[in-house]
Parts: sequence; C-alpha cells; structure tokens
Amino acid sequence: MARRKIVAGNWKMNMTPSEAVKLVETLKPLVANEEVDVVFCVPAIDIIPVMEAAKGSNIQVGAENMYFEEKGAYTGEISPAMLTDVGVKYVVLGHSERREYFAETSETVNKKMLKAFEHGITPIMCCGESLEQREQGITMDWIRQQVKVGFLNVTADQAKTAVIAYEPIWAIGTGKTATTEQAQEVCAEIRKCIAEIYDDATAAEIRIQYGGSVNAKTAPDLFAQADIDGGLVGGASLKEEFGKIVNYK
Ligand code: PGA
Repeated sequence: MARRKIVAGNWKMNMTPSEAVKLVETLKPLVANEEVDVVFCVPAIDIIPVMEAAKGSNIQVGAENMYFEEKGAYTGEISPAMLTDVGVKYVVLGHSERREYFAETSETVNKKMLKAFEHGITPIMCCGESLEQREQGITMDWIRQQVKVGFLNVTADQAKTAVIAYEPIWAIGTGKTATTEQAQEVCAEIRKCIAEIYDDATAAEIRIQYGGSVNAKTAPDLFAQADIDGGLVGGASLKEEFGKIVNYK
C-alpha cells in the first residue's frame, strides 16, 4: 500500500491572526494538490481564523502543541477538547524548540501522544539529534530512544495513523538541509524501530516526514526517498515557496 504524502507547515511563533488570513488567501490556490495531505500547523490564536480562511480548500489545520490533561488549573495551556471542538485534526508534539526552551521531554511527549490519540487527533511527533550527537555517532541510539519513549503504550492501530517528523536539530532554520542520504538513512531506521516495537504492517503504514530547512529545491529528492513520506516545513511554509514544496513533483 502506497503511503499518502503529508506536507505540513510549522508556522512557529509567526503570523498575527490578520497576517495569517492574508497568508492563507495567498497560499490557498498554490497548495492545491489532491495527492498530498496539506496541513498548516499554526499558533493557537490563529487556528480559528485560518480555518475560516481555508474553507473550501484542501488545507487542514493543525496545532503546534497541546497539553496532556483534559482541563483544569493549567494556566496558559490548550486542551485536546479545545482543539477538536473547532475541528483540529493534527498536533505537532515534541518539536526540538519545545524540548529546548520549554522543558518538553520524551516522557511528556508520550503523555501528549496518548491524549491526542484518545481524542482522535493525529500527532506529528518530532525527533532529531543535535550536531554533537551526530558527531559522536549516537544519532540512531538517540532517535530510537525518542521514538520508543514517545510511543510507550501507544497501540499498533494508533501508531499506524501517526506521523513522525525526523528533524535534525542542526538543520532547523539553518539553511543546512540534511543530505538526501542522511535523511533517508534515519527515516529508514525509524521505520525499522517501529517494526520492532509493533510489526511490519504498522511500520509500512506509519508516515515519516523529514524536516529541517526543506525548500522548493530540496523537497523533490527528499520526498522521493523510500522512507520519506513528506516534510515538516518551517521557514518556507510562510512563503509562496510552500506551494512549490507541496507540488514537488
Ligand atoms: P525550518 O524548520 O524548515 O525553518 O528549518 C523546520 C521545523 O522546525 O519544523
């Protein structure tokens, strides 16, 4: 079974609601592509205006984070039900910026993963090594650890629907895309790890993205790799270039 490609934009902390609406209006015709899932992961305050602006298009809207409790005294957090109430289908979890600046760990990511599945939200779980880890030759061990902890107690049926984004930290926002070979190698290892945790059928269905300075030039080769099912795109998702990335073929 061929896996459907998924190209997601990660807006990070960019775009006020009014800027967001303008951007969606510009990108709407450019990202039309029936063969690819197109997701805009946007700041919480932009979710509703982006959904309105994206009506009638193929754009699906995702969140950039979510808390693992149902509700209550967690000032500043967004609950899964708040997301599903407005129709959010995807959530980015464990982005390296959240791990680095907001004390996110693989354990908290795991709690969020379980909560997302419970609410029918598809997680886009990020993993990735630092430059030091790559140079020390521990990339695969590190990524395996992130994936194993992230998927603790996730069932095979849930895992099949998940998305994993492999994002080497040294490639994020640096303009330094991993080579096609480096990206494919790690994505293949992630799929192998999923096969070990679950089985071959689960590994064959789960979608694995590459992220880190993806642009219109690098996307075609990256997305053509056997184990790369699309991309998580930061900087270039805020520009018309995103249309070219979605229509990479
Ligand atoms: P970038 O960001 O494309 O700007 O490198 C990717 C990401 O952090 O998801």
